[in-house]
This record gives sequence, structure tokens and C-alpha cells, in this order.
Amino acid sequence: MTEYLSYKFTDNETFINTFDEAPLWSGAFGLLLLKHLELKKDISVIDIGSGAGFPLMELAGRLGASCKLYGLDPWKNANTRARQKIINYQYSNVEIIEASAEIIPFDENSIDLIVSNLGINNFEKPEIVFKECERVLKPKCKLALTTNLNGHWKQFYNVFESTLKQLQKNDLLANLYANQEHRGSVESISKLFSDNGFKVCRHFEENFEMKFADGSAFLNHHFVKIGWLDSWKSLLPKDEHEEIFSLLENNLNALSRMNNGLVLTVPMAYIEGEKI
Ligand SMILES: C[S@@+](CC[C@H](N)C(=O)[O-])C[C@H]1O[C@@H](n2cnc3c(N)ncnc32)[C@H](O)[C@@H]1O
Repeated sequence: MTEYLSYKFTDNETFINTFDEAPLWSGAFGLLLLKHLELKKDISVIDIGSGAGFPLMELAGRLGASCKLYGLDPWKNANTRARQKIINYQYSNVEIIEASAEIIPFDENSIDLIVSNLGINNFEKPEIVFKECERVLKPKCKLALTTNLNGHWKQFYNVFESTLKQLQKNDLLANLYANQEHRGSVESISKLFSDNGFKVCRHFEENFEMKFADGSAFLNHHFVKIGWLDSWKSLLPKDEHEEIFSLLENNLNALSRMNNGLVLTVPMAYIEGEKI
């Protein structure tokens, strides 16, 4: 009963390799999920797109030993890290399955809850994944996801738009608008639920703000470089990157000077559907 009493924190390289706060980006969405998700005992749970283990490990800890959790993700290196966390934290109620959620390796009507933080609706084939969730969930059980919405970082996209106009590159605006639209709205995501055998029972929206000293800091931030820069570059001809990004950075810096920093709004949603 009290195995936790013998847990020994060992501060070594192996441990520190897996120890961090969840990235601030995932953290904001994970907090929204944890705020609204109903926690029950004795249930089976899948976290789709569990990556390096967030919010999977947090849920494993909060749900406790009577529950069984599975993290599903095809990303090998992230799964290795998540598995090491299971060892470090001595959680016996979690397992990582290396697979795409396009084919969930569980029987139909076998799972009590599916969650996905910044996952499912952004996958390559979201309809297939929603159908799979519907198949493996028991009747009346829930699929709960969080996502960023259309309108995220609108202050940045407004400057991007005006920069392209300033350079008279109006032919590139359609790419930029498509990039923004692709994000989805509560309506479009709710439709993914209702088209695939769920009724949306609850949804909540919230905004958070990300503040940067200026546009240069923003464009050089590791998260922006890792997660976003390539998608913006792909909207523009390669030989125009230098010209466009230089002016974009200048314009973002000018806005930052006026506003004492660059403040970007991120609209988020928690959406929960019940299998009909
Ligand atoms: C934006 S990350 C979110 C990771 C984590 N849940 C978090 O909150 O930080 C999306 C995750 O979905 C995974 N993913 C992408 N396609 C997938 C699929 N078809 N099935 C399962 N996971 C997938 C990626 O490998 C990645 O780990």
C-alpha cells in the first residue's frame, strides 16, 4: 500500500534526461484538459498522441492505481522517453504502445475514456482516428480533446499579412489564409465528432497569452523554430524568405516597441464527445 514511502529520488544523468516541466505550450492545453476532465476510478484510458508522456504521466498520477492507461504514439524516440518516465516515476498503471491511432490495437467496446492533448484533430487523417476511437470506446463513453483554434497568434498573423501587402506580394496571401484556416473552429471540430458517431456533450473555450520581448525573440525562440517556422517558410517561395522574414521581423519589432513587448493570444478549446 505504501510503496511510495520507499521511493528514492536519485539525481543522476538518466533521471535528468527525462525530467522537465511540460513545455509551456502543451502545459496550457493540458491544464485545460485536467480542469474539465472527470476523473473516475477503475477505468481504462488511452492518451492519443502521448508524445514524451504529457499529459499521460500526469493523468496516471491523478487517476491512480485502479486505472489502466495507454499512451499511443508512432514516434519512437518520444516513446522511449515516456517509457523511461514510467520507470523513474514507478507507475505500474501506464503502458506505451508504439502505433498510429489510425489502427488502435484494442477490441471494439473495450475502453472507458480517450483523451488527446493537441492531437487527433491535427493528425493527417483525423476522420479515420475519430472512427477508431468510436470503435474501441464502450457505449456512452467519452472522447475528450484539447486544441488550439482558428485565430491563434492573430497579432503575429496580422503583421505577416500586412508585411506581404507592404511588399506587394498579394499573390501569397491565399497561402497565409489557408495556413490560418487549417486550425479549425469549435464548429468544425464538433462536426468531426458528430460525423463519426459522437454527440458533443461539453465544450469550453479559454485564451492564454504568450509574451515575448520583441519579434526577434519570438522568431528565434526554440519552440517557434522547432514547431512553426518550417510551415511558414513553406508558404513562400524559397528565394523570397530572406526579404519577407527580414521585414516581418522589423514590423514585429516595431509593434513590440509600441506595446512594450509582443503579446500573442492563443484561443484554446476543450471538447468532449460521448459515443452514441
Ligand atoms: C503536438 S504533439 C502533442 C504531444 C503531447 N500530447 C503534448 O501535449 O505535448 C502531437 C503528437 O501526436 C503524435 N501523432 C501524430 N500522428 C499520430 C497518429 N496518427 N496516431 C497517434 N499519434 C500521432 C505525434 O507523434 C506527437 O507526439
